[in-house]
Amino acid sequence: MSAPGRLTGKACLVTGAGSGIGRATAHRFAEEGGRVAAADVRGETAEQTAGEIGGRAVSIEVDVTSADSVAACVDRVADAFGTVDVVVNNAGVTIVGAAHDLDESDWDRELATNLKSVYLVSKAAWPLLVRSRGAIVNTASIAGLWAIPADAAYCASKAGVVMLTKCMALDGANDGVRVNCVCPGFTETPMIEGYFADQPDPEEARTFATGLHPLGRLGDPGDIADAIVYLASEEARWVTGTALVVDGGLTSGIWGS
Ligand code: NAI
Repeated sequence: MSAPGRLTGKACLVTGAGSGIGRATAHRFAEEGGRVAAADVRGETAEQTAGEIGGRAVSIEVDVTSADSVAACVDRVADAFGTVDVVVNNAGVTIVGAAHDLDESDWDRELATNLKSVYLVSKAAWPLLVRSRGAIVNTASIAGLWAIPADAAYCASKAGVVMLTKCMALDGANDGVRVNCVCPGFTETPMIEGYFADQPDPEEARTFATGLHPLGRLGDPGDIADAIVYLASEEARWVTGTALVVDGGLTSGIWGS
């Protein structure tokens, strides 16, 4: 008989589950026995993730910047599983540029997708999370702790996610809802490939970014998913309001290795 999973029977909503870190998280949750709702604005990618997981998983097309879409998404999870135990606010975009160069529409899209979405999804799921004494895990970034040149809106949005996590942790404590975030370093996903592609010399940018991580490589989506599993699970029962850095040592100091 196999050991029980760390999320056995838990109803888990993962946003941005069609790609990268969200996709890896959806898979890890399922491996730990969770019932997974894979949600993404690109519905076909959410379907693909749910299809890969099989039986217990459902897919949902959601735009996390829209309160109506988010409400429908949470209803769908509740219909499918009867409850919501875990929410992973992971959907995100990156639009590079210094603040003085960014179009207002890009600023608004970045903040809406990366920060306002955390408020919208968490608020919509809150009554269910209170009932289940559940957990929220937000995907912030080392960019919420350290500034990155020409990435102003992204860094500001992620710093907002770190602080919103702490605020929600305080406000959720009496209701038994834990709220934490992860702060990944540069992680090999389509997003980071796009970020490199936007740089004047993409290969040089990749080499430079790799060299920033003392452990000598970029992150793998599974490295981040494992940290999210921990924060979502009972093992983190006395952990709330934390920003768990998962970055191969990048933010440990300025010299690297
Ligand atoms: P990705 O681009 O592979 O996946 C992001 C997913 O979010 C995509 O499937 C996309 O369709 C979805 N999405 C975008 N806008 C959405 C919307 N309005 N509604 C619903 N879904 C939407 O990117 P990756 O790297 O997996 O990023 C996941 C999270 O991790 C993001 O919040 C990102 O900022 C964060 N992160 C990524 C790092 C990296 O180096 N890849 C480093 C630190 C944080």
